Amino acid sequence: MRKTRLDTDRIRAARRLIDPMFLDTPQYRCEALEPELGCAVSIKLETANPVRSFKARGTEVVASRLAAHGQPAVVCASAGNLGQALAWSGRDRGLDVTVVASRHATAAKLDRVRALGARLELVDGDHELARDRAADIARRDGVRLLEDSLDLETCEGAATIGLELVAATPAFDTVLIALGGGALATGVGHVLKELAPEVEVICVQPLGAPAMTRSWRERRVVTTDSADTIADGVAGRCPIPAVLDDLLLVADDAVLVREESIVAGLRLLLDHAGLVAEPSAALGIAAVLEDRDRFAGRHVATIVCGGNVDPAAYRRWVGAPRAGAA
Ligand SMILES: Cc1ncc(COP(=O)(O)O)c(C=O)c1O
Repeated sequence: MRKTRLDTDRIRAARRLIDPMFLDTPQYRCEALEPELGCAVSIKLETANPVRSFKARGTEVVASRLAAHGQPAVVCASAGNLGQALAWSGRDRGLDVTVVASRHATAAKLDRVRALGARLELVDGDHELARDRAADIARRDGVRLLEDSLDLETCEGAATIGLELVAATPAFDTVLIALGGGALATGVGHVLKELAPEVEVICVQPLGAPAMTRSWRERRVVTTDSADTIADGVAGRCPIPAVLDDLLLVADDAVLVREESIVAGLRLLLDHAGLVAEPSAALGIAAVLEDRDRFAGRHVATIVCGGNVDPAAYRRWVGAPRAGAA
């Protein structure tokens, strides 16, 4: 049988490099969401940490190894969460961190990158242009380029969520995972397929940014000319071939959801779970809303993987709190 690029022992070793603050995040059955969704729902909460997303699990691994090998600098492209996490992980280890992002990225994320002391370079284009620019900087300055989802540390860090998911009870039978570049889905998916193969792994992307999902369905890299979604954390256009190969081995399905469903998911998470999620983190809930019949009677787990929003945009999406919210 073909294997992913990941290795469960390496993932366990990676876990030891991560500040415990980012580990063993809350995982609980959220009954208040269940009447609206028509199935049992467990939440894995990755927003209650200093960078408000799961991405620090990976950047902790990267930064620890760079520091251990005396490598002083690193550059990455980011829609905001990876950059913020790398800035955080690099700061205390004395690393020189450069983050390249689109000028149109979520302002709150860019502000945090700067506040954490990283050098921020903005490009007049989307995330794919930021990726090109980061690669240019790495070549020019001879520093480490961190490529999210391609570099194994980013997948191994995310995969530690999988170790925690399988260790918890009660067991769930489906996991819904936001799909961007693929570090989260391939990491968690790898662990589930090894340690809990009975769990169905479903990836979720917005209809407005479907490149990786289409690639998974066609079993070849499919790029798109544009990405148009409020879920900025998953708005890539050019899937990475090696990551797609892994995803083909670990995902049972990949589904696309509408923007209205993502917004409805944000509202449900706020009104019934008391959680401020960013749009990418509501994709799992959106998938259930779009196909209640498929999930009826099942126990789904969804990773609430980030909570970095621009307050004004968030208020626009969720509107006023609903009467009767639990
Ligand atoms: C909040 C959030 N959710 C989901 C994703 C997608 O993760 P991945 O790129 O590992 O697929 C990201 C990526 O940065 C993110 O920030």
